[in-house]
Formats: sequence, structure tokens, C-alpha cells
Amino acid sequence: MKAIILSGGKGTRLRPLTYTGAKQLVPVANKPILWYGIESIVAAGITDIGIIISPETGGEVKAKTGDGSQFGAKITYILQDAPLGLAHAVKVAQPFLGDAPFVMYLGDNLVESQLDLFLDKFNSRHLDALTLLCEVENPTAFGVAQVDSTGKVLQLIEKPQNPPSNLALVGVYLFSPAIHNAISNIQPSARGELEITDAIQYLINWQKNVESFRLSGWWLDTGKKDDLLAANQIILDSCLDLSIEGSIDEPSKVSGRVHIGVGTKIINSTIRGPVTIGKNCHIENCFIGPYSSIADDTSLIEADIEHSVVLKGAKIVDIKQRIVDSLIGERAQLKPASQRPKALRFMIGDDSQIELT
Ligand code: TTP
Repeated sequence: MKAIILSGGKGTRLRPLTYTGAKQLVPVANKPILWYGIESIVAAGITDIGIIISPETGGEVKAKTGDGSQFGAKITYILQDAPLGLAHAVKVAQPFLGDAPFVMYLGDNLVESQLDLFLDKFNSRHLDALTLLCEVENPTAFGVAQVDSTGKVLQLIEKPQNPPSNLALVGVYLFSPAIHNAISNIQPSARGELEITDAIQYLINWQKNVESFRLSGWWLDTGKKDDLLAANQIILDSCLDLSIEGSIDEPSKVSGRVHIGVGTKIINSTIRGPVTIGKNCHIENCFIGPYSSIADDTSLIEADIEHSVVLKGAKIVDIKQRIVDSLIGERAQLKPASQRPKALRFMIGDDSQIELT
């Protein structure tokens, strides 16, 4: 069994961050989203992993993730020249996959459940495709499956206007090599992409064994800011390394589930967990409230923040209002120009969103 993780794509929904970086490397609880996928695949005993990368962000994904040795895996990088669809990514990966059955994992998805259960079902029932399904409130925004009472998949529809069910396709699939023939027989959709739903539908139409597995735990597609903050909240609640490696001075108060990285200084501040703070940060006269992830090399001085993700090297100084539900990019700077600002002066990248609430 092999695995591919899709880490190319455009990432339009997470702009402006994705103008300069891969969305799969945006951290959740200070760890790139992509790495959760790698860890979960390795935990299921699959160590031969191909990562699909784009020309724009592939270098960064490679540099950060390496050859896989840190995960106990062997990683092969596979370049997809253009984001021409999920099935196109499988096509590009075919030389790597050969005749092996494989897991396909979308690099911006997070799934609570362990993969073992899905692998067991896929193997024991000799399936050609196993799709994971999760009940959602807004099925029109997803690929949706119609299944019979045994879990056999009858039909898949991409973003249907009249959804046949509320079961959305989760970004983890298992395939036999039969999927390659299906992909070579489908045409690009109206949006110009080779859709994996069309390839699976082809398998169904040719009476191949396509079944589903309904997830009971959480599943998050972190492609948008609010989903990313939700993922951050869940991860901070469930799996936080609680070591305090930095220094905390006498007047500071740290409570709840908190991790503080090496070289970080907490001065006269209150940290109320769950919170994770990376390495070499300077936190002074701050309140850092629940569900905040602060990456390495950041400075927060006279700031009040909660339920937010702050990326590497950002500086937040002297912001009197509480910062909430925010995603602050790498090396971004938030600071007033004078003691009592009467006006706001911005330099804001394309597609940024600022809400003064
Ligand atoms: P999507 O989130 O469906 O697409 P996208 O990355 O283009 O994002 P957006 O909708 O914000 O523009 O992709 C799911 C995952 O698959 C994501 O990790 C990117 C990856 N992907 C590829 O590797 N190649 C592709 O051709 C496509 C479409 C996606």
C-alpha cells in the first residue's frame, strides 16, 4: 500500500496567505497541516508516500518536510505543473503508484479518526474505491454521495443544487489501481478540472466495488480562515505538548493547558490555555487567551489576543483592543504609529480582510 498527499492547488480561499506560501504549511497548533496527514498515514503503517506539489509552493513544502525520515517515512515529491484537478494529480502520480493500491489524502484536510479502520474495510471487502463520508449542514458546498443501506455508493455529485443526502466526501480516499483506467476515461469538468468524483462515478457505472465509510469523529477542511481556526481549537483541546521550555517571570500568570517553546520569554503577562507559543518569542504585558497558537520568533508587546493563529516572525505591539478570531501572516506587523492613534494607516496585501468590530 502506498499513499499520496495532495499539496499543490491554488489555495484561493486562503488568500492572501497563499500568495506567498503553501496553504498546507499554514500551522495548526504550530505544526503544518500537511504534517498531521503524514503522521496519520505513517501511524496506519504506510511509509511510501508521494507528495504532489505545485511549481509555486513545491520548493517550500520540500524544504520544510524533507525526505520523510523525521516521520519514519520515505517521501517522493511529484510535480504537478498546473492545478488541473484531484484526478489529474493521481494521473501525474501514476508512475510513482504503479499497480499498488493507495490512500489519497488532501493535504489541507484534518481527520480525527485513525486510518486503520478504513484500510481494514478496503482490504477485507476487496474494494476498488472507499470514500469517507461525513454529515454536513450545507451539502451544496461539497461533493455529495448517495449511498444504499449497506454503504455501497450509488452516485456522487459535485456541489449539487438539490443534494440527494447530507453526506459530504471527506478528503481521504482509498483506491485500487482500477482508478487509473477510470481517470483515463473521463473528461475535464465545466471548471476545467479532472474531477475525482467523475472517476469514482465511472467505477460505479462499470459495476466496480465502491463503498463508503461514515466518519463519527470530526473532519476539517482547513482551506478557509474560520475552518483553520476551528481546527486550531480542536487540536489545542486534544493534543497539546504541555512542556514549558521558555522562561516565565514572577508577575506572569500561566494557567490551563499551555506549551511554551525554548528561548521564549514571558514577561508580566497572563497566558490562559489552551495556548501554544513557539520558540524564541517575546511576550510582554500581554493577555494571551484560549485557543491561540503563536509561532516561533514572534513579538507581542502590550497586546491582548485570543482564538487566533499568529504566524512566524509576526510583531504585534501596543494594540489596545482585543484581537480575536484572527489569522496573522508571517512577519506581519501590527503597531500604532503614535501613543494615541487618531487615524489608521495600512499597508495591506491583496485579498486581506480587516474588520474593525
Ligand atoms: P482544493 O481545496 O479543492 O483546491 P485548491 O487548493 O485549489 O484551493 P481553493 O479552492 O482555495 O482555490 O484542493 C484540495 C487539496 O488538493 C489541496 O491540498 C490542494 C490539492 N490540490 C492539488 O494538489 N492539485 C490540484 O490540481 C487541486 C485542484 C488541488
